[in-house]
Amino acid sequence: MAFPTHRPRRLRSTPALRRLVAETTLRPRQLILPMFVKENATEPAPIASMPGVVQHTRDSLRKAAAEAVAAGVGGLMLFGVPETRDATGSAGVDPDGVLNVGLRDLRSEVGDATVIMADTCLDEFTDHGHCGVLAADGSVDNDATLTVYAQMAVAQADAGAHLLGPSGMMDGQVGVIRDALDAAGHLDTGILAYTAKYASAFFGPFREAVDSQLTGDRKTYQQDPSNIRESLRELALDLDEGADMVMVKPAMSYLDVLRAVAEVADVPVAAYQVSGEYAMVEAAAANGWIDRDRTILETLTGIRRAGADVVLTYWATEVAARLD
Ligand code: PBG
Repeated sequence: MAFPTHRPRRLRSTPALRRLVAETTLRPRQLILPMFVKENATEPAPIASMPGVVQHTRDSLRKAAAEAVAAGVGGLMLFGVPETRDATGSAGVDPDGVLNVGLRDLRSEVGDATVIMADTCLDEFTDHGHCGVLAADGSVDNDATLTVYAQMAVAQADAGAHLLGPSGMMDGQVGVIRDALDAAGHLDTGILAYTAKYASAFFGPFREAVDSQLTGDRKTYQQDPSNIRESLRELALDLDEGADMVMVKPAMSYLDVLRAVAEVADVPVAAYQVSGEYAMVEAAAANGWIDRDRTILETLTGIRRAGADVVLTYWATEVAARLD
């Protein structure tokens, strides 16, 4: 009987050996915390489908941001939940709209201690819930939407965002936003482009988080889950238009896309562990079916291993505080 010559188990035999040879790191600076701020809220409002995540008041937003910074979190991505909505999402452009007010609060609270990011998209602000403005036939009008995104981007940069995250999947959005920022003198405000964003069922809980008014779907602008080559085309376009960073979203069902993008992108790559991914783990853990803390670390490690330089996750502060 020949015993094995090669014994990979040797390097697994003690915690110190496993630590020495670990290929993938997970550090607080690599985590970005998505946050929600709700207009005129007096108490943080829990989001039922995302246990542990809330729609913040202006005060609780500041507090949570300070906690994230203390834990070493790399960035904050802010979403606004307005009280009133209209067809063109004008509250998103308004300097006094909830998202821009929240950005100012964040910047005054944490300054440059972390990276402040804004969701540059209309779906939270429109009364029909789409990411853009509608044409007469009810379809989402790409080019009319770009005009609004340009105004929205300048308002967000004025409010103090370091990085803007255009998430609406309109063609040409990165280029139009770059031009608008430059023309307004915001040369150092960067763009974290939602490059590969799929029409995903995993966004379900997010719709509750932002009180979304959407009744249909986003299949005419977000990508078909069956495609990967298309993401490389989106990547080439976003880089050509001036994206400073790119993103793949959702994360766990798209790790192959993440890997493909990371292999060719010459800018930092982000992945967004979205609301449904969070909700699944929390729900299974609440039932006692999985070990919550180990599962969370395993998901984030997997996303990093697949090629993400940074990960947006609703667990950012908790995990950052847990990492040594
Ligand atoms: C669009 C946007 C969405 C998410 C981030 N930005 C919703 C959508 O595209 O339907 C989803 C994030 C998540 O599910 O955690 N503003």
